[in-house]
Amino acid sequence: MANERIIRLDGKSTTYLIRINSVGHLENLYYGKKLRYDATLEALLPNRTVGIGTGVAYSEKNTLLFLETACLETSTPGKGDFRTPAVQVEYGNGMTTLDFVYYKHRLLKGKPPVKGLDAQSYVEGQDAASSIASNAQNNKKSKNSKATTADTQASTKEEAITVQILLKDKVLPIVLQMNYTMFTNCDVIARSCILTNKTEEPITIRNLASLQLDIPDSNWNIVSFDGAWGRERNITRRHLESGITEISSNCGVSSAYHNPAIFLERPDGTETRGDCYAFNLIYSGNHREVIEKSPFGQTRFQTGINPQTFSWVLKPGEDFTTPEAVMTYSSMGSAVASTNMQSFVNNHIVRGAWKFRERPILCNNWEATYFNFTEEGILDIARAAKELGIELFVLDDGWFGQRDNDTSSLGDWFVNTKKLPDGITKLSNTIHGLGMMFGLWVEPEMVSRLSLLYDRHPDWAIIIPGRDPSVGRNQFILDLTRQDVRDYLVQAMSEIFTIAKVDYVKWDMNRIFSDIHTESNYNLGQFSHRYVLGLYDILKRLTAAFPDILFEGCASGGNRFDLGILCFMPQIWTSDNTDALCRTAIQTGTSYAYPPSTMGAHISASPNHQTLRKTEIETRFNVSSFGILGYEMDLSTLSAQDKQIIQAQISFYKHYRALFQYGRLYRLSDGPQNRSTSDPTSNNQVRWLIANTDFSEMLVLDFQILNQCNIWQSILRIPFARPDFNYAIETRLQKVPVSQFGSLINMVSPLQIKANSQLKKIIDKNIMLDNEQDYHIVSGDILANSGIRLSPQFSGVGFSNNTRVLGDFDSRIYHLIRVQSSRKH
Ligand code: GLA
Repeated sequence: MANERIIRLDGKSTTYLIRINSVGHLENLYYGKKLRYDATLEALLPNRTVGIGTGVAYSEKNTLLFLETACLETSTPGKGDFRTPAVQVEYGNGMTTLDFVYYKHRLLKGKPPVKGLDAQSYVEGQDAASSIASNAQNNKKSKNSKATTADTQASTKEEAITVQILLKDKVLPIVLQMNYTMFTNCDVIARSCILTNKTEEPITIRNLASLQLDIPDSNWNIVSFDGAWGRERNITRRHLESGITEISSNCGVSSAYHNPAIFLERPDGTETRGDCYAFNLIYSGNHREVIEKSPFGQTRFQTGINPQTFSWVLKPGEDFTTPEAVMTYSSMGSAVASTNMQSFVNNHIVRGAWKFRERPILCNNWEATYFNFTEEGILDIARAAKELGIELFVLDDGWFGQRDNDTSSLGDWFVNTKKLPDGITKLSNTIHGLGMMFGLWVEPEMVSRLSLLYDRHPDWAIIIPGRDPSVGRNQFILDLTRQDVRDYLVQAMSEIFTIAKVDYVKWDMNRIFSDIHTESNYNLGQFSHRYVLGLYDILKRLTAAFPDILFEGCASGGNRFDLGILCFMPQIWTSDNTDALCRTAIQTGTSYAYPPSTMGAHISASPNHQTLRKTEIETRFNVSSFGILGYEMDLSTLSAQDKQIIQAQISFYKHYRALFQYGRLYRLSDGPQNRSTSDPTSNNQVRWLIANTDFSEMLVLDFQILNQCNIWQSILRIPFARPDFNYAIETRLQKVPVSQFGSLINMVSPLQIKANSQLKKIIDKNIMLDNEQDYHIVSGDILANSGIRLSPQFSGVGFSNNTRVLGDFDSRIYHLIRVQSSRKH
């Protein structure tokens, strides 16, 4: 390969090879498991000795180069590649043909910030994000302990290598810079590109993908994370077929409809077996992922800004930078790809004072009161929360303007003195006085027609003059593409954050876009992207000014759960749906690309407010604890029994908090989407595992969807257990209500109780049993290859202390820790 030029990027377990071919095109030579340094790369070269029927050869001199079969790092129309182009630029009289060839490249240690991006990945110490909130030094000052588990060690040793490659069109002075950074420890590559117009005429970008990966074969399943409000990021798994599969959002936010994260798995792949590629985009607006199976059996993957709602004029001398996209590869199934992504988010996306810092357990009043609260009522909830061990009280919607329902006051960010007569500072002081942090809900991007802000600045709302505007939740979006609107919002938020002495902010965004319009003077093909840039500008300024505030992103729950938001806000409200069963699907899907430290998960009332389903409080806790725990119910009216249960839950969570928040989340069984059909009970079960980096400590959620009778043995097998370790396994102590036994009460009661008697009613209300306690010492090889036999499940034929009374939507948590000996003492 004497004349071949190869650029090589190595991660801990992966290798990425870019070949500059004889013409100068960048080809992907290889992306997969790490190769030996002395590997013979000739075998990877395209092997063409004859042409293609009806194919277009690149040139009269290059009759054996067919771009439509090449694995290209970027692609343009017009020179024989008929797949979706990564770069589509219009110039002259509508011409789109371009042909980018290699000019030069440079390799850099670490990752210099990509120019023009407020939301991007970074390496600690070389913080991109000096352009974001340069507050890494605040880490040292933080009061809360830093998590000492899982990824923290990785963060100090993490290295990155960057290559910047400059390409030029063969004819026109249009330049494309391709940036690649390999984050070595987590095997994630970040990519972006910058297009510069050095011609003397304006050109129009119709599409500029952030990342293109051409894979030489097409035997893949596509996994996407889809849904809508209340059922975000549910898994869709389908086989890649001929033609184009498009996953996208055009509603202005990254959306609950289709998250930008995509996995490609082998059809026979599992969590632990088979090639797997994972992709994501650091962007909060309209995105598009294209997965194309070409006529020649190759796969093209592309991700970037959605071209449907985008066109950008570049004047002479101007450039345009795409958002960053990221990708990883695993040779051992989706679990490794997924934990690479989780680790990447913790180390290279989340930043500032709350990076790797244990997050407080919060109480939010929304589902307890909705808009209808008084200061006294709020303080009752806060006091009750404090007594239970909760650390942060969050006052949700309704505290400002005249806001008694969702028809008014967005934009009027001053206190509603009818509800809080002593003001917000007083409330904050009182809550601080209880020894809790204080947090506040805001929805700055919006305005209600019934508001003082709208009266003053009707032109700030995104409404088309002369058309009846469409509405979402009775509100309008402010035009964040305008500097004056952004300046106003930064000032208004700074004031309220200061007055209310907030430690935490829930930043909400409750409608999607329609009636696109601006009073500013630019083409509306730029609007959606400019909005996202405007949002990032506001967030950059506020997070720099308030580095210690913990921000939680929210958009009607998880309508904007993406890496762009996570560059500013370390956690996001995963979904407005807090039903434990629905949450198993939502959090399972979310865990593919995002770590538990990012997922807000609250325990709410039963029956649940979104589904009216009844679930036990222990199960609601078990599911929520695999994320950032909170309570969102009226804690001031709890029964003595529930108080006791919640106190125990909170102390359990605090004890294992670092692991719950910063451990790596694996899916042992992901419920109805489960890939294994051989076991009739498998898709009746959701099992999650959260582990530290060396698997010496783990927590397992075992969630049963519907109860079945006469199930013999439930086996807990953990393929990730280290065969050379020994483990002690125990069950979290939780309560089983006696009422669950109904008229079978005498099966569990030492006294004879009459059905329907007063005594039975009292017992049902007040007595709870301890759950069965499985305790095992087991060697890791058995745990990994066979598993332990859990106590038998209740089946109507008897009961002992060791019966697992597991009803519908019921669950357990198991704790596993490494021990020296494999024998019980
Ligand atoms: C959105 C949020 C909720 C709550 C309400 C308040 O729906 O997702 O958590 O804050 O707004 O209006």
